[in-house]
Amino acid sequence: MTIEPKSTVPVIAIDGPSGTGKGTVAAHLAERLGWHILDSGALYRAFAYLATQRGLSADDIGGLTALERTDLIRFSSAPGGVQIWVAGRNVTDAVRGEEGGRTASVYAAVPAVRSALLVRQRAARRLPGLIADGRDMGTVVFPDAPIKVFLDATPGVRAKRRYKQLMEKGFDVNLARLEEEIARRDYQDIHRTQSPLIAADDAHVVDTSEKGIKDVVCEVMQLVHAYMN
Ligand code: C5P
Repeated sequence: MTIEPKSTVPVIAIDGPSGTGKGTVAAHLAERLGWHILDSGALYRAFAYLATQRGLSADDIGGLTALERTDLIRFSSAPGGVQIWVAGRNVTDAVRGEEGGRTASVYAAVPAVRSALLVRQRAARRLPGLIADGRDMGTVVFPDAPIKVFLDATPGVRAKRRYKQLMEKGFDVNLARLEEEIARRDYQDIHRTQSPLIAADDAHVVDTSEKGIKDVVCEVMQLVHAYMN
């Protein structure tokens, strides 16, 4: 076993299920702190898109591992958020919907895929700091992150938030169906064997059901100040 040196680059790990405001909170924190962002969900969505395009099933371990090495996934930042590129094509709109989330969740349950994507996620850790959002940031990808937050909210609130978000992006969505899809995806993410969706023991858990984004950002900023002082 190799022992890696502890990184001096601070990380804020933000985990939690869909619709808890992780991405929005991460964006606000990045703006305030001037730190980098890792949207790990975007990476899983892009990878699933590429795997589907190449006709690779979730049990084709050799094919999936080789796919990560092809370096066909890229990200760029834009005012509206991270833009996702696969094989030179902007696929942001194609992967951001619930279909993209469902496919991502299937490939994300494959241990070889998770291992293959680890290196790239850890490489995002750069000064002055990183805000990483996902499902296993505090437990697996950055277990030594000095600040760990787990955001949660009731299923009804999460579905409504996601509904609003998707409608604003121009997706045609049905609230009841969306609630079912989110529940199915949560179940899959919570019950997979490797890196399941779970709060790290040392995470600060926030129920965002009755809280606005500003309140959540303030709460996390208090943790950041406590860490820095
Ligand atoms: O965060 P987002 O909804 O974009 O993530 C899409 C899916 O990607 C999740 O439902 C989950 O299955 C997978 N994912 C993951 N680990 C992460 C981030 C996302 O398994 N760190």
